[in-house]
Amino acid sequence: MTPTSAIHFASDNYASVHPEVLAAIAAADGGHEPAYGSDAATAEFDAAVRATFGEHAVGFPVFNGTGANVVSLTALSPRWGGGVVASEHAHIHNDEGGAPEKVAGLKVLALDSPDGRLTPAQLDRYAGDLGDEHRAQPLVLSLTQSTEVGTVYALEELRALVDAAHARGMGVHVDGARIANAAAALGVGLLEACGGADVLSLGGTKNGAMLGEAVVVLNPELSPSVGHDLPYLRKQAMQLGSKMRYVSAQLTALLTSTDEAGDPLWLRNARHSNAMATLLRAELEPLARDGLLRFTQPTEANAVFVEMPRTLADDIRATGTRFYDWKPGTTPGTVEVRLMCSWDTAASDVALLAEVARAAAHPVAVEAPAEDA
Ligand SMILES: Cc1ncc(COP(=O)(O)O)c(C=O)c1O
Repeated sequence: MTPTSAIHFASDNYASVHPEVLAAIAAADGGHEPAYGSDAATAEFDAAVRATFGEHAVGFPVFNGTGANVVSLTALSPRWGGGVVASEHAHIHNDEGGAPEKVAGLKVLALDSPDGRLTPAQLDRYAGDLGDEHRAQPLVLSLTQSTEVGTVYALEELRALVDAAHARGMGVHVDGARIANAAAALGVGLLEACGGADVLSLGGTKNGAMLGEAVVVLNPELSPSVGHDLPYLRKQAMQLGSKMRYVSAQLTALLTSTDEAGDPLWLRNARHSNAMATLLRAELEPLARDGLLRFTQPTEANAVFVEMPRTLADDIRATGTRFYDWKPGTTPGTVEVRLMCSWDTAASDVALLAEVARAAAHPVAVEAPAEDA
């Protein structure tokens, strides 16, 4: 019989709030505090940003990732807009409802990137448009770390890409909705995982926060100018929260709340979700060996991408398990799905999903005959 489950591998934002984040919200609560970021919790967040990203870094809490991206990209673009070079899988390209185009007036210039990563040579695609008034000016590169398809830029390849963009006069933005997962996978800090980029959308929600991200200006040369513009850009993008203390407290908890080993919460949560994805891949490996499914991406952070017969995906879903269809598979009747692990994914959830998949892929056709008495 196919076991039943109601487990979620749909998204890391399906997960609940980490108790240390909830405790930080509770600690920030009570009494009156100045609004719009002039509060003690936001001062703590500012200090945490400097401690994490360098003394010159400035952080601006916002409500969500789309807002962080739109504000970041606006900050890096000239007032007449322009083009933002990004991967074909970029969230800014596919999943923000055209917000960069509508709200920021920017044109996303998407490049092929089968594994979610871009290379320096690909920047040549739009380089000839520079100085041509008929073309959206490719003045910003937006890369995602870890990528939308669960891969992670290695430090050298990231550095090469960022340097190549800078050499072409482009500003560099990192969509860091999952920067914690990338840093944990690379074994480096959050700043190193950005590879010298200028502005980061620092993710919180997928890393155990209730809601909240931040725009962080990393480049010391830009922090006076971009840092000056950002409060206005954030307000115009409707991302300035009046009760900011509650967002700031969450982000500070992720950056600074440590365990006995001294590991911050962002790292513990990311390490765990990455480990669960590695485990899930290992559990599904036998089915891949038997040709019942196929991994479509390396598993380098907290996602596993798999192509399987649509009937198998349907049978697994019928047990209550949730996950997203990513795109149609490469052969008729197949689908590529994304299995995403979170800070609260349990090893037992992974084992159950694997069991459900095995049972659905190998249905028991007949009952074993009863033994003769
Ligand atoms: C790569 C990436 N960037 C940004 C976001 C943030 O999106 P939202 O505006 O839903 O917070 C997401 C969420 O799915 C994402 O996966």
